[in-house]
Amino acid sequence: MKSILVTGAAGQLGSEFERLSRSIKDFHFIFTTRTQIDLARPETFETINDLQPDIVINCAAYTAVDQAESERETAMAYNANILADLAQICAAREIPIIHFSSDYVYHNALRRPLRETDPTRPKGAYAKSKLKGEKVLLQHHPNPLIFRVSWLYSSFGHNFPKTILRLIKERDLLNIVNDQIGAPTYASDVARMVVEVSRQMEGLWHEKFGIYNYCNIGTTTWSGIAQHIVDRTGSSCKINPIPSVQYPTLAPRPRYSVLNLSKFKKNFDLPIPHWQDSLDHCLDLLLNEKG
Ligand SMILES: NC(=O)c1ccc[n+]([C@@H]2O[C@H](COP(=O)([O-])OP(=O)(O)OC[C@H]3O[C@@H](n4cnc5c(N)ncnc54)[C@H](OP(=O)(O)O)[C@@H]3O)[C@@H](O)[C@H]2O)c1
Repeated sequence: MKSILVTGAAGQLGSEFERLSRSIKDFHFIFTTRTQIDLARPETFETINDLQPDIVINCAAYTAVDQAESERETAMAYNANILADLAQICAAREIPIIHFSSDYVYHNALRRPLRETDPTRPKGAYAKSKLKGEKVLLQHHPNPLIFRVSWLYSSFGHNFPKTILRLIKERDLLNIVNDQIGAPTYASDVARMVVEVSRQMEGLWHEKFGIYNYCNIGTTTWSGIAQHIVDRTGSSCKINPIPSVQYPTLAPRPRYSVLNLSKFKKNFDLPIPHWQDSLDHCLDLLLNEKG
């Protein structure tokens, strides 16, 4: 049986792989947190040599988007520079590597669904580190698979839907940005997609490697997501849409992040769920948890 090693297993995406792994029979999963594989200590990458997995899925990353503005070097080290070592270890053993990048790498002036070949103009330290990470991986590994995902959330970890779910219980009114357009992406869907793609990639890594956009179908705004959560839960909290200028952040956010999924659809035979269906699924999990 093939084995898949997942780094950053305690994060929201890593945790989704862990949950999914319980129902998967044709792969053996090995989950590592920073105790075993630490992006700050490249010597820990020897774990890969010791365990010899068939595929590495890298969910470990520096993800504090605003904090990265004051920790630029750390963000660049973890999200980009250190990936050279990780890629080389995998390349030496011909182990395919799957990695995740961000819609933030685009941040261009285009206002139509963004293609993988469109110009990249990352603005903040996090976004720049993610774009550099793609380049480092492609430079040091012969066939990495990189998914640019947008607005990731899960029932695990910290994310926008979970914050809204908490706040609508505490407040009567929430001011939420309505002029950033994109698609939320359920990390559970990403995990399922990656496992299925891993099956479909068998014997095709040298042909199909590269960068792919991936997100849930449909588009919305942050206030659209918040309103959906209010509607779904029957909350009386009012969502007041505001422009981004009224909610300044340390790192700039793209106004338009809708991803064109044509390349993914052409290469992989997989249904992509609509964001509303996936969000409902996640909300059901969260609401049942709290009983
Ligand atoms: N979240 C989003 O909206 C979003 C959007 C687009 C793309 N992405 C990308 O998707 C991927 C997964 O994101 P996520 O949301 O699952 O992130 P996450 O929940 O923040 O998880 C990241 C994981 O990386 C681990 N990590 C941080 N520094 C590390 C280090 N030095 N060594 C080893 N592990 C370390 C963290 O460990 P600790 O738990 O110990 O801190 C955490 O478990 C990332 O590449 C991210 O950039 C995310």
